[in-house]
Amino acid sequence: MKLPVAELHIHLEGTLEPEMIMELAAKNGVELPYASVDQLRAKYEFSNLQSFLDLFYENMVVLRTAEDFREITLAYLQRAHDSGVRHVELFFDPQAHIQRGLGLGDVIAGIRAGLNVGLERWGISHKLIACFWRHARAAEAMDLMKLLVAEKHDIDGIGLDSSELGFPPELFQEVFDYARAHGLHAVAHAGEEGPADYIWQALDLLKVERVDHGIRCLDDPALVQRLVEEQMPLTVCPLSNIRLRAVDTMADHPLPQMLEKGLKVSVHSDDPAYFGGYMDANFASLMESFNFSTEQLATLASNSFESTFLDEASKQELL
Ligand code: ADE
Ligand code: ZN
Repeated sequence: MKLPVAELHIHLEGTLEPEMIMELAAKNGVELPYASVDQLRAKYEFSNLQSFLDLFYENMVVLRTAEDFREITLAYLQRAHDSGVRHVELFFDPQAHIQRGLGLGDVIAGIRAGLNVGLERWGISHKLIACFWRHARAAEAMDLMKLLVAEKHDIDGIGLDSSELGFPPELFQEVFDYARAHGLHAVAHAGEEGPADYIWQALDLLKVERVDHGIRCLDDPALVQRLVEEQMPLTVCPLSNIRLRAVDTMADHPLPQMLEKGLKVSVHSDDPAYFGGYMDANFASLMESFNFSTEQLATLASNSFESTFLDEASKQELL
């Protein structure tokens, strides 16, 4: 199923398909603990967020050069185009790459080069969002934040991702204050596995403009009321929630309930190479369980465009 949408919750490193991982490992002389694509694929059974993140971080070591980043960005955009994506706000994890000795400038230049080809070739517009790891020290995030600004790296916003439980948003308040003071947009993963309280913190302390996931808001009626009143965008990732066992089955997914309550939800793919598919697969799976009406689908699509960081005129063009 192909619906024109904006993709607002997509981790570039989560688009690394097993075949690409093996090819990049061979090209870059990186030794992996798997002899074949099938052996690697056999690992894609997750019990929670952390069990996925362990493999996700292990696999991204195959990325070594600016050209690798250009290539995977472009491969993703081809797939996104095929699934109806008209605009993308792409996440990447700079800490993962600079820790391996890659230059921040090379990583960003490679991604930007891919994004620019995507704009020319398929008309997919874009924003780029650097995500900080919540499992790493806030001081490390702050050093990186200052470097991104001081060296004028070409990003549009910041995010917060990785292991959620035990790493509340409040730890990163200073980093987000700094980003905002320097004109950057702000989003954060909150309420994926973590409690509703983390969503309150993301709103009140990090002052985010969108909440990534946010499904746990339903545990707290006062929070739901606030999110509805503010029409705060929530970027929901159904297949991810099932594969990481945040939700048992698609039939149990809270998306219909969230729509019903008037929350500004949209559908996204998170780490599609790991979770069984891109935007089209997410919608196909939702339709199988919920058979959304044309009106509900139109709301999900228009929510995705309205929740972008595009200026009003560009939003109107996409709507
Ligand atoms: N990094 C990549 N995917 C993620 C997710 N679903 N939650 C937190 N961090 C992530
Ligand atoms: Zn995510």
